[in-house]
Amino acid sequence: MKEQDEILQLREELHQHNHNYYVLNAPTIGDQQFDEMMHRLQELEERHPEMYDANSPSQRVGSDLNNEFQTVQHKRPMLSLSNTYNQQEVSEFYQRVKEGLQGEPFQVCCEMKFDGLSISLHYEKGRLVRAVTRGDGVQGDDVTENVRTIRSIPLVLPAGLDYPDEFEIRGEVLMPFSSFEQLNKERESRGEALFANPRNAASGTLKSKDSRVVAERKLDAFLYYLLGDGIPAQSHYDNLQAAKRWGFKVSDNMCLAHNEQEIFDYINLWNEKRHQLPYATDGIVLKVNSLAQQRSLGLTAKSPRWAIAYKFQAEQVSTILREVTFQVGRTGVVTPVANMDPVLLAGTVVKRATLHNADVLEALDLHIGDYVLVEKGGEIIPKIVGVDEERLSETRGEKVRFIDRCPECGAELKRNEEEAATYCPNDECRPQLLGRIEHFISRKAMNITSLGPETVDKYFSEGLIRDVADLYDLTLDKLCPPPLDLFGNPLPDTGKQEHLQQRNVLAGIAESKNVPFERVLFALGIRFVGEIAAKALARNFRSIHALQDATLEQMLEVNGIGLVIAQSVKQWFADEHNQRVVSRLEACGVQMELSDEEMSQQSDRLAGQSVVISGVFVHHSRDEYKAMIEQHGGKNVGSISAKTSFVLAGSNMGPAKLEKAQKLGIRIMSEDEFLSFVGVN
Ligand code: IVH
Repeated sequence: MKEQDEILQLREELHQHNHNYYVLNAPTIGDQQFDEMMHRLQELEERHPEMYDANSPSQRVGSDLNNEFQTVQHKRPMLSLSNTYNQQEVSEFYQRVKEGLQGEPFQVCCEMKFDGLSISLHYEKGRLVRAVTRGDGVQGDDVTENVRTIRSIPLVLPAGLDYPDEFEIRGEVLMPFSSFEQLNKERESRGEALFANPRNAASGTLKSKDSRVVAERKLDAFLYYLLGDGIPAQSHYDNLQAAKRWGFKVSDNMCLAHNEQEIFDYINLWNEKRHQLPYATDGIVLKVNSLAQQRSLGLTAKSPRWAIAYKFQAEQVSTILREVTFQVGRTGVVTPVANMDPVLLAGTVVKRATLHNADVLEALDLHIGDYVLVEKGGEIIPKIVGVDEERLSETRGEKVRFIDRCPECGAELKRNEEEAATYCPNDECRPQLLGRIEHFISRKAMNITSLGPETVDKYFSEGLIRDVADLYDLTLDKLCPPPLDLFGNPLPDTGKQEHLQQRNVLAGIAESKNVPFERVLFALGIRFVGEIAAKALARNFRSIHALQDATLEQMLEVNGIGLVIAQSVKQWFADEHNQRVVSRLEACGVQMELSDEEMSQQSDRLAGQSVVISGVFVHHSRDEYKAMIEQHGGKNVGSISAKTSFVLAGSNMGPAKLEKAQKLGIRIMSEDEFLSFVGVN
C-alpha cells in the first residue's frame, strides 16, 4: 500500500476507535494496539508533510502554539434559557406552550442541564471546521484548536451517513468529577490555586492558550442541539438520535413527556438520581419536541419560548456545629474550618466545611452547639450559609472567635488591613517549611518527580529534612535505617538491594543538580520571584553571588524587575538561614551560576525581534527553540501580526498561519536557516 493511502486508512480506523472508546465506552482494541497505530500514523505524517490535516487523530494531543483566540460572529445567535425554580413555574411554562399552540397536541423533550460551558461546533462535509464558545451569544471565541483535543468530539464523521453538507451542533463541554478531582489534587500538590467546581475547571481549561494543557485535562462534551438547513428530522429528539448515529455523544437520559405529570416525574427522578452521574448537572431542560411547533412559538429577545430550564435547588441540610479548627496553609494563611455532626448532603457525607476567613466567621455569628445550615450548590466544597434559626436553642454555647496565635507554632497571627486573610508570620512554621520544600521539588522548579508531597511530609516528620538543602544530604542509610530487634538494637539489613523506591528518590535528587541556575533561583521560593523574574535575574547577574551582592539600583535596571521584587530579593539574602541554604546547595553541586555553555550561547542577534514558532521540528524541540530565541535576545510570540519579525517554521505549519504570514509579507525561516542564523550550525 502507498504510504499516503496508509495514512488515510489509519486516520479512519483511529477515528472509529476513538469513538468506540470515548463515546460508546466500548473499545474493541487494547491501549497498546491503539498507541502502535497512532505512532505509525505520526511517523508517516512526519514523512508526508503535504498530507497535513488539522482533523487527523494525531492532532488530538494539542500543541504549544500559543493560541490567541479570534472573536467570531455566531452564524445563529446562541440564546440562553430562562430559568424556573419550582413546579409552579414549570406548570406555567406548560400552560403558555399549550395556549401558544392553540390546543395542538405536543410533546416535551426532557433532558439534563449539563453544568459546563456551551460550545457551538460547525461541520462541513463531515469535518469539524470550527468550534466557538458562547461568548455574549452574538460573538464568541474560536477555540477550534483546543476542542480538537476533546476525544469525544468527532473530528471527521464516517462517510455515507445522512448528515447535511453543513450543520451546526451545540452542546456543553464539561469536566467529569474524576478528572476534576485528579486535577485539583495535582494543583494542590504544586501549591497552585484550586478550581472551585468542574465548570470553572472546564472553562479555564478550554480557554487555555496551550492546547496540550487541554489535551491532558480530559474534558468531555455532550451535544444537545442540532441546527442547519438540511437536518434529517422534524423533531428535536429524532435529530439528536441521528447525531448520535453520526458519532456525537448524546445523553441517554433524554425522555419525551406527553403531559405535565410526566415532566414532573422526570424532574423528581433526576433530582435524586443526578447524584449518581459522573459529571455535574444543575437542572433539567425542557424543550418542545416538534421543530414546526418551536417555530410557531418563536423567541423572545433573550430566549426561546419553546424551551425552559428547571434549576435544581441547592441542597441544604441542618446539622450541629461541634468545633471550629484553624488550618495553616503552605503560605501561612490561616483558615477556619467547621467540624459538624456528619450529615448526608447531595449524595456525600459532609462533616467539615470551610469558613473562609475572619470576616466570614464573624458575619455568621456561630456558637458551638448551634444547628447550622450547610449547602452544596455549584461549588463542590460545602459551605455554611447561616445558623438554623428555627432550631436555635435559648442557651447557646460559646461564641466562635478567630484565634490570635498560630495553632502550629504559637506565633502571633497578623492581618494586613487591605487583605481578607490572616496569616502566621513565622517562616519556620511547619506548613511553611513543607510548602517551601514542595515548591522546590515541583515540576517547573527542580523537577524532582521521584518525590511527592506525601514523601516530603514523611521525611519531614521523621526529622530527615527541614529545608531544601537537607534533601542533598539524604543517603540510602538515612532513608532505610536497619530494622531493630526487640531491644532496639539494629538487625543486619538484608533488603538494601531492594530499596528501589528510595534509590529512585536519591537518583531524582542527584539528577536535579543539572537543573540550570535560572530554575534553581525560581526554586528557592523568594517571594515575588516567579519563573520570569528568576530568568531575568539569572541572565543578568549570572551567579547567585553576583545577585547577592547586587544593589537595589542594579536590580532595578533589569528589564521586568521592579521595586517589590528587588526588595524581596534583598530581604531574602539578608536572612542568615537563607545564606546557609545557598552555601550548602552550592557545596553539593547544585547549579548556582549559568554555565559557560549557557552563557556563550547568548547573543543579541535577535534583539527586539518577535518570532512566531509554528509546525513540527526535527533538530530541537519547540521548547528548545523558544529558549534559543530568548537566549539571543528575541521574544517568542503566539500569533502572527504585522509586528512579527519572522516565522520559524517546521513541517506541517498550519495553513491559516502560512496564509497570514504570506499576506503580511513576513519572512518564513526554516529550521536550518534559523540555526545558522543564530550561529548554532
Ligand atoms: S439548549 C435555545 N440543552 O444551559 C436552547 N442547553 O441558559 C439553547 N445547557 O447556554 C440551549 N444543558 O450552556 C440546552 N440540555 C441542554 C443543556 C443546555 C446545559 C446550558 C447551555 C445554555 C444554558 C442555558
